Amino acid sequence: MKRAIISDIHSNLEGLHAVLEDIENQGVTEIYCLGDIIGYGPNPRECIDLIIKCDACLLGNHDQGALFDPEGFNSGAERAIFWTREQLEDPKENAKENARRWDFLGELPRNRKEDGLMYVHGSPRNPLNEYVFPEDIYNQRKMEKLFGLVEKTCFQGHTHVPGVFTEGLRFYPPEEMDSKYKLGEEKVMVNVGSVGQPRDGDPRACYVILTEETLQYQRVEYDRETTIQKIYDIAELDNFLGDRLLAGR
Ligand SMILES: [Fe+2]
Repeated sequence: MKRAIISDIHSNLEGLHAVLEDIENQGVTEIYCLGDIIGYGPNPRECIDLIIKCDACLLGNHDQGALFDPEGFNSGAERAIFWTREQLEDPKENAKENARRWDFLGELPRNRKEDGLMYVHGSPRNPLNEYVFPEDIYNQRKMEKLFGLVEKTCFQGHTHVPGVFTEGLRFYPPEEMDSKYKLGEEKVMVNVGSVGQPRDGDPRACYVILTEETLQYQRVEYDRETTIQKIYDIAELDNFLGDRLLAGR
């Protein structure tokens, strides 16, 4: 088994293309996506059309925001969600394709469990909306609650900050472990990072390859200038959403 686990694409088609190409070059046998296919970026339809082909996909909070009434988003994110919804309902597009994308999003599950592995967008306690940030290792109560729900390993996204949380309350960003982590007896929560909007200061797209017991973080360069220009050209998408792609913040 060689499984790529990707998350938080956020309608960044250039980032997704680069990651899918890297995945193909790694001889990966299956791709799981942890949600937030859309929101923020300029290519929601194209990204959904690629993610539909994944072996498993979960619902993210931005996907849910586009499907229903967005709640708890800041104004820039909310405007992006409303614009995204317009793209998915565009009457100039093929009605059948619109319906296919809409049905796909509407049927996405909130979690997945198999062989001691759990997959969520946010956290084991609140799979859609709860953030688990690196500084949460200082919040023992929260981490004990979360690890109490993890059988062995939980893969998650949502913060866009990659790294491994251990039950012993350590956090290892990829650069501190040579981008590799060996799953052992200790329970871990693994944030796989973000394809389309990394926020750990490294602007390259990020994802994880799981091979038996070994995790490998991959960082992939992509044509972010093109993505940024597309964002600038769409009035409803704040320029900040482009600028942050340069900084990886
Ligand atoms: Fe996200």
